[in-house]
Amino acid sequence: MALLLWLGSQLSSCWSNISVLGVFLTVFTLLLDFMKRRKKWSHYPPGPVSLPFIGTMLYVDFRNPHLSFNQLHKKFGNIFNLQNCWSNLVVLNGYKTVKEALVHRSEDFADRPYFPVYEHLGYGNKSEGCPFDLSFLVNNAVCNVICTTIYGERFDYGDATFKKLLHLFENSLNEEAGFLPQLLNEVPILLRIPGVPQKVFRGQKAFMDFIDVLIDKHMETWNPAHIRDFTDAFLKEMEKGKVAEENGFSYNNLRLVTADLFAAGSETTSTTLRWAFLYMLLHPEIQSKVQAEIDKVIGRERSPTMKDQASMPYTNAVIHEVQRYGDVAPVGLPHMTYRDTKLQGFFIPKGTTIITNLSSVLKDEAVWEKPNEFYPEHFLDANGQFVKPEAFLPFSAGRRACLGEQLAKTELFIFFTTLLQKFTFVLPEDQPRPREDGRFALTSSPHPYLVRAVPR
Ligand code: HEM
Repeated sequence: MALLLWLGSQLSSCWSNISVLGVFLTVFTLLLDFMKRRKKWSHYPPGPVSLPFIGTMLYVDFRNPHLSFNQLHKKFGNIFNLQNCWSNLVVLNGYKTVKEALVHRSEDFADRPYFPVYEHLGYGNKSEGCPFDLSFLVNNAVCNVICTTIYGERFDYGDATFKKLLHLFENSLNEEAGFLPQLLNEVPILLRIPGVPQKVFRGQKAFMDFIDVLIDKHMETWNPAHIRDFTDAFLKEMEKGKVAEENGFSYNNLRLVTADLFAAGSETTSTTLRWAFLYMLLHPEIQSKVQAEIDKVIGRERSPTMKDQASMPYTNAVIHEVQRYGDVAPVGLPHMTYRDTKLQGFFIPKGTTIITNLSSVLKDEAVWEKPNEFYPEHFLDANGQFVKPEAFLPFSAGRRACLGEQLAKTELFIFFTTLLQKFTFVLPEDQPRPREDGRFALTSSPHPYLVRAVPR
């Protein structure tokens, strides 16, 4: 009996010690979390209440971040703050604010944040008139432009390797959207759990393996006296030795830069074209007006060239409106403040992640007459001449603006006019009206739809 009593008292004192330790650890952790999430600056932008550990992550639908940002924009104004776990983010909205940051204070906002999730990658023929999905053909055509530039290689339509590449690439984009990648960026230790990166980023890994094969194949036939493409030129720089390596000309950078160019240069342009043909299906009267202009300026025989663009204000306006209304990069790419800065009276410290809500610029009610309608007249003056409002920023602005803008504009004009010169795109009779809202996976793309391409 005495033994039992003694055991009981030992257990209860042990339990109370564990409880005290538990309370202490909880208070300590909450305090640490509070200190980490505390914003110690005055005039810091307002934002939603930050919750322990997860910050404001519950306020954002990471599958549709631009929609969440638009709601928060209405509540908190043009500049508001968010917190992904312990990281501070500031979201900039509307033309005035985004321009002020990216153009007038370009240097302050020119950095890029570091994403631990990238570490595992080494960073640091259709029958006439039948309904078909034009994604694959458009992707193939656009990717061939970038593949020829980088790797001196083009792929035939239907090439199995190429289909695989596109598939891998699509998977890799999907892997970057949603809550999980955000969480892994904030709590990178989770990436140390064996098997996690391999499982979560399977598509990206496979995509990089594919890029490695392309580069290796390329290196086997490399001849410094005959530079064929970007990869050849990069390899030539690498040959210059240590100084070149210090300047970034290393094998690993070659993989990453070419993968970046491939990713940045193919998806955005092909998605824009898919929006373009979707809007042509939905607005046949606009399609007819574009075709009338093509017939008048180019005719039906010769191929369009960039010289034609200046004489085709309506077509040019339609392409710009596709970019504005299609809004393919709704939240741009994240920036990071390079030093402490101020924006419209708010203080933003160095190292803050900056989200430029480009969607709020392209649909800014203060600038556009009909922001939420497809209305090519946004880009035409009273005399039907092409005009470009300053708030047209699908390529962003400032030091970090898209470096492929000229190439993208050329591709959009040539592909769009060439296809409309030869075909009229119509909705197949048995098909529902395609959805106008986008699917978000870094870019906002149309839901799959079928078209009939009727030869003209
Ligand atoms: C319609 C087509 C395109 C759109 C809408 C688009 C849009 C954008 C946007 C919004 C950014 C982020 C800018 C920022 O951070 O402020 C960007 C960056 C970039 N784009 Fe594009 N882009 C397009 C086509 C292309 C093409 C064809 C290429 C390549 C050849 C390309 C290469 C890049 C690169 C390399 C960056 C990163 C620049 C940097 O970090 O300094 N883009 N693009």
